Amino acid sequence: MEKKKIDWENLGFSYIPTDKRYVANFKDGKWDDGALITDANIVMNECAGVLQYAQTIFEGLKAYTTEDGHIVAFRPDLNAERLVNSAKRLEMPPFPAERFVDAVVQVVKANAAYVPPYGSGATLYIRPYMFGINPVIGVKPADEYQFRIFTTPVGPYFKGGVKPLTICVSDFDRAAPHGTGHIKAGLNYAMSLHAIVTAHANGFDENMYLDSATRTKVEETGGANFIFITKDNKVVTPHSDTILPSITRRSLLYVAEHYLGLEVEERDVYLEEVKEFAECGLCGTAAVISPVGKVVDHGKEICFPSGMEKMGPTIQKLYDTLTGIQMGHIEAPEGWIKVIE
Ligand SMILES: Cc1ncc(COP(=O)(O)O)c(C=O)c1O
Repeated sequence: MEKKKIDWENLGFSYIPTDKRYVANFKDGKWDDGALITDANIVMNECAGVLQYAQTIFEGLKAYTTEDGHIVAFRPDLNAERLVNSAKRLEMPPFPAERFVDAVVQVVKANAAYVPPYGSGATLYIRPYMFGINPVIGVKPADEYQFRIFTTPVGPYFKGGVKPLTICVSDFDRAAPHGTGHIKAGLNYAMSLHAIVTAHANGFDENMYLDSATRTKVEETGGANFIFITKDNKVVTPHSDTILPSITRRSLLYVAEHYLGLEVEERDVYLEEVKEFAECGLCGTAAVISPVGKVVDHGKEICFPSGMEKMGPTIQKLYDTLTGIQMGHIEAPEGWIKVIE
């Protein structure tokens, strides 16, 4: 298969339509067989549930080329499971997890010409999502849903080198206790837009959200979980029912413990103790880990000893090991790498 003529190294993170997308419809209480289609546009009624009451959830994962030339995806079964959990919380019919993985395989195969070559640093971003599509005017769940997956090639995250981020402690809350912070619902991102635009306007790269009940504990950013390294080299991440269970963070904790022999703690992390940590990073599918150099809490600066030039040494090791596993240089735990082609 001949690759598309794309300047892979200089791709950014924006939507570029590819040839095929996967679509399945839920109607009369069941999902249809699903199919690959070419039309990138969706026609729906003006009163569709998603448009009126934001009944929509999504996932994000990547396909990429390993050194030996295979196209693979990283732990798509966990995205499938998370989408099922998101669906249940928003009263949507879960798309079966095994069908999710099969649909990912189908859509990536159909767009293999857009999967960036090994060594480019670029990847094929995969966006599964589903939404209520029939007219809904009273506030209630829709009866009909559409599940879709599109793909779009995206560039290397750390173009021009890794630059540690400066983040601010946000005055906005991201998630309420017993709310929807633990699922990947569009509504969580809609309400974060004002906070991120405000953070950028104030010169910060990202927001550090605190728990909205006490505003004393670190939660996450708008799109990544936190990982901290203590001065005695323990890996610490916030435990909270109101953050998204990041697949990258869960994988990094396993890597820390089983590949690097580090002690790992998932627990409450108080804003007050952040100044004691040696390193800080944000973990998510896009960057794996982005180092944080500085946290600003209402004018008070917390500068990590790892500095503003590069990743700290332990975060670097975690990053190298997980990306080594993803790229096939280091043996992966059973079931982590889904070979697509
Ligand atoms: C709010 C939020 N937290 C964390 C993450 C990181 O999750 P993952 O590692 O599964 O990409 C994401 C991205 O999906 C996110 O949107």
